[in-house]
Amino acid sequence: MDRIRIRGGNALNGTIPISGAKNAALPLMIASLLTDDTLTLENVPHLADVEQLIRILGNHGVDYTVSGKRLALSAGSGRTIHFTARTIVDTTAPYELVSKMRASFWVIGPLLARMHKARVSLPGGCAIGTRPVDLFIDGLRALGATIDIDAGYIVAEAKGGLVGNRFTFPKVSVGATHVLMMAASLAKGQTVLENAAREPEVVDLAKCLNAMGARITGAGTPTITIEGVTALSGARHRVLPDRIETGTYAMAVAMTGGDVVLEGTRSDLLQTALTALGDAGVEITDTEDGMRVVRNGGGIRPVDVVTDPFPGFPTDLQAQFMALMTRSDGVSHITETIFENRFMHVQELARLGAKITLSGQMARVEGVPRLVGAPVMATDLRASVSLVIAGLVADGETTVNRVYHLDRGFERLEEKLGRCGAEIERISS
Ligand code: UD1
Repeated sequence: MDRIRIRGGNALNGTIPISGAKNAALPLMIASLLTDDTLTLENVPHLADVEQLIRILGNHGVDYTVSGKRLALSAGSGRTIHFTARTIVDTTAPYELVSKMRASFWVIGPLLARMHKARVSLPGGCAIGTRPVDLFIDGLRALGATIDIDAGYIVAEAKGGLVGNRFTFPKVSVGATHVLMMAASLAKGQTVLENAAREPEVVDLAKCLNAMGARITGAGTPTITIEGVTALSGARHRVLPDRIETGTYAMAVAMTGGDVVLEGTRSDLLQTALTALGDAGVEITDTEDGMRVVRNGGGIRPVDVVTDPFPGFPTDLQAQFMALMTRSDGVSHITETIFENRFMHVQELARLGAKITLSGQMARVEGVPRLVGAPVMATDLRASVSLVIAGLVADGETTVNRVYHLDRGFERLEEKLGRCGAEIERISS
């Protein structure tokens, strides 16, 4: 298994290109199941999760071809991939595939909408909480589907097709919003989704679906209205920049000090996180094609954050922000409200000398003057990158094990950080 070895102490200076968003690419790829025409996606990141989803979609009958640059390390150099689901050959998503990536469960929406049936294994995915699927079930039932659970599978059927309805999410869910938006696009009549997720990735999916002929308004607000159409066509769509990758590198620069331009991204995608960084003493300015992050001299001020659905502070940046706060000049409090078990990085950060105490959903982080390198274990995607951020300032050597978690969501991380002066390398074994 690959490891990442970091020798801490170097400031980051230079340019980091931001990739297309993983969390947008995945639902966009799944949307290709809705049409027999070709959906072309530009700026698709090269990530293990994307490759895995390509295999899963292939199982349902989606063909794909890749064009565009693969390896150039510049903004917008992501691949262009053409997806064509001419014929759906299988409406079953088996456990062996779905358990490897939770988001693949989302095929249930398009399969049900287009084929009027789907048999999808209950998901696995990141070990960051119980992550139930009740909202998907209730929402799809509201659109007229019958749903049974049989031997670990959700068996869904909509004889004669889905029918539009009004559905209020009892809790904000990104995945369930994606799925119901896709399903309702091909339902009969109007669907109104209340308390929908407002994440930029939801807006990106709605834009792509509209380009395919869907009639969706209100994405990005809590109320999304979808007028069902009888068929969708192909389209060409560019995946929006990854706000979590953006925030992660901004936090890395905040941690090490330095001056880095994050290229090909947009500050409006992560305003709350940038405000927290500003409060911590980091200077962030927009550039023509991205943003510039500077921390020269001056310590890191302690800042309290609470994770929340968009536009709140993203749970996917919580671990990285905690890593930053381990070096602050005081005490900060970080509260996680989205997932109940998303503090697995705490004990690993402690191995590097961090002082963190947990009480329920809140972590109290007492800043320390230095961290000391050690071997640490990546436990999930975002937790693992928080260990890299800590390693960048820890004295001596930090080795992050189980790097496959990182490869799921960060494209060529060691290359991007290495080019800005970090001493970081991948050790393949
Ligand atoms: C997506 C993101 C993930 C991010 C999360 C929250 C992708 C591929 N993943 O995950 O990176 O951390 O949003 O921003 O885009 N819930 C239920 N019942 C359900 C569905 C969800 O109770 O049926 C709960 C979850 O357990 C969690 C909360 O709702 O507590 C939010 O989860 P959700 O927004 O659905 O996360 P994902 O879409 O899985």
